[in-house]
Amino acid sequence: MKFFIDTANLAEIQEAHALGILDGVTTNPSLIAKEGIHGEEAIRNHYKAICDIVHDNVSAEVIATDLKGMIKEAEELAKIDDKIVVKIPMIQEGVKAIKYLSSEGLNTNCTLVFTAGQALLAAKAGATYVSPFIGRLDDVASDGLALIEQIVHIFHQYNFTTAVLAASVRHPMHLIQCAEIGVDVATCPLKVITDLLHHPLTDKGLAKFLSDHKGTHA
Ligand code: G3P
Repeated sequence: MKFFIDTANLAEIQEAHALGILDGVTTNPSLIAKEGIHGEEAIRNHYKAICDIVHDNVSAEVIATDLKGMIKEAEELAKIDDKIVVKIPMIQEGVKAIKYLSSEGLNTNCTLVFTAGQALLAAKAGATYVSPFIGRLDDVASDGLALIEQIVHIFHQYNFTTAVLAASVRHPMHLIQCAEIGVDVATCPLKVITDLLHHPLTDKGLAKFLSDHKGTHA
């Protein structure tokens, strides 16, 4: 399973990259706004700064919702760096945009996916990634992980090349369950990744090993 970090914060991306386990970054307009970045040029420069940190896979989302506008923006975003994956919303014009962009060889990530039917459409249009949002479904008393399982099952039936990118991953158990289901990628905030590191018995065990070692050198 690939690990992407879901943030536009450069320090967090650096920290996750330094762990040596980071496979990519996902952003969205809300995450960009959270960093206080204003203006098209500043946003483009920020995407470039992210691309300069990681090896590959930097999702950058279009703002337009009409076909022509989405294609124009996608092509501009793709020019920033070869690592850019253009994020397109799951709307009717978005499906057309994905079909066109994938035929042009651009990598796409279909975002805001909340049903298996939406995922199926994105895959048939040739999306590189499809992003079902686990946490936001859980927020409205639906089962986000059940959707992930359903999409993975459907994609395996037909050998779709579209990768399942579990998004809106909010806590470590979401990540573990995504791995059990066999998703291709999970994206989450830095804290969810670093939370995987910790267990009280690890800390207790290490403290004992170190104090016993000290005894052998007293
Ligand atoms: O980037 C899309 C998704 O991961 C957002 O997560 O926590 O805002 O629902 P969240």
